Amino acid sequence: MPDTPYPTPVTLDPGWTPDTVAVQAGRPTRTPGAPMNPPIAMSSTYVQDATIEYGRDGNAGWGALEAALGALDGGHAVTFSSGLAAVTAIADLVPQSGTVVLSTVTYYGVRNIFQRLQAQGRLHLRMAPADDTTAMLAAADGAAMVWIESIANPLMVVADVPAIAAGARERGALTVVDSTFATPLRQRPLDLGADVVMHSATKLIGGHSDLLLGAAVCRDEAHAQRLVTLRHDHGAIPGALEAFLALRGLRTLAVRLDRAEASALEIAGRLASHPRVSRVNYPGLPADPQHEVATRVLPGGSGSMLSFEVAGSVEQTDAFLTGLRLITHATSLGGVESLIERRSRYPGDAGVAAPTLCRLSVGIESVDDLWADLDHALRAALS
Ligand SMILES: Cc1ncc(COP(=O)(O)O)c(C=O)c1O
Repeated sequence: MPDTPYPTPVTLDPGWTPDTVAVQAGRPTRTPGAPMNPPIAMSSTYVQDATIEYGRDGNAGWGALEAALGALDGGHAVTFSSGLAAVTAIADLVPQSGTVVLSTVTYYGVRNIFQRLQAQGRLHLRMAPADDTTAMLAAADGAAMVWIESIANPLMVVADVPAIAAGARERGALTVVDSTFATPLRQRPLDLGADVVMHSATKLIGGHSDLLLGAAVCRDEAHAQRLVTLRHDHGAIPGALEAFLALRGLRTLAVRLDRAEASALEIAGRLASHPRVSRVNYPGLPADPQHEVATRVLPGGSGSMLSFEVAGSVEQTDAFLTGLRLITHATSLGGVESLIERRSRYPGDAGVAAPTLCRLSVGIESVDDLWADLDHALRAALS
C-alpha cells in the first residue's frame, strides 16, 4: 500500500469499543503542536522523489479515512470516488469468465454493473435470494464471488453472513458484503467470515448528504493492493475534501445511528398498525420475517432504513409523498435529515419493489415530528 506522505495515524487501544474507534481513528499522532484532524491536501502533484508523486497515487486525507475504516472493519481499507466506483473495482477481483452470485434484492446500481459485465462476456451472473442460504450456496457451486448486502436495499432482506461466507469459502468463492445500511457499527462482516466489505460512505458514514465516496475493506492485503492499483489506473479517486468530510461524518456516526435507529424502530412499529399501510419491512420488528437472523448478525440494532407499502394506488402514494412537509421526497439515505421515495419508479427496482413501496431513511429529527408528518400525509392522501 502506498505510504501516505503525512500524518502517521494515532495508535488505537485494542480495548476501545467501535464507537470510540470511530471518534479517534485516523487522527494525527499526538505530538506537540499536531493538529487534531488530518490536513486537506489539495494537490494534484508532489515533489519528487516520494512514493506519492501524483494525485492518483494517494492523499493524506484518504490515508486518514482508510486508517479509520480499516480499524473499524478489521481489514485493509481503500477509498474511491463513490460507492459504485468501489463496486466496479471489487468486480475486477473476479477472474475472466468467472461466476458471480448476486443477491436478488440488491441496490439496482450494483445489479446494473454486474449485468453489464455479463453482457460484455466478462463474467457469468447467477441471481439467488440472500434470505435463503441453501439457495445462495447451491448457486455458489463453481462461483468466484458471492455478493450480498448486510441489510438489502430496498426490502431490508438480512443475509446470514456467517453461513453464506463459510459455504462460499468451502466452494472457493470470495464473499463480498455491501454493508452500507449496517455501517461498521452494526456489523463487521470480515469477523463473520466475509472477504471484502463495501460501503457507500455517501450514506450513513458521511451522514450529511454533502458528499459521494465509497470504500472497500479487504481481509487480504493483496486484494487491497489490487484495488489501489485499479483506483490509480482507472482514476476513481476520492476528492480530498470529500475524504475529510467523510471522516468528520464518521466521528458522529454512533450518536446519529443510535438516534435514527431508535426512531426507525418506533416508526416501523407504528406504521405496522396504520390503517393506510399494508406492509412494513424492518428487521428490528419482532414480527418481521428477518428478525431472527437480524438478532444474530445485527445484534446492535437493525439500522435506520425501513420500507413500507401504502394501502392504495400509485397515484395516492405519490400524493402522500408530495404531501409530506418535514420528510423530503428525495433519493439517497443516511443523512441527518429524513428522506423518502417510491422505489419502483426506478426501472431497476420495478421488478423488486411493489408499486407502492416507499423507502424511508430515518434521520435524527424528533420522532414525534416525523410521525406526525407521516400520519398526516398518509391520511390526507388516502382519505
Ligand atoms: C446499498 C447501496 N450500495 C451502493 C450504493 C452506491 O453508492 P454511491 O451512490 O456512493 O455510488 C448505494 C447507493 O444508493 C446503495 O444504497
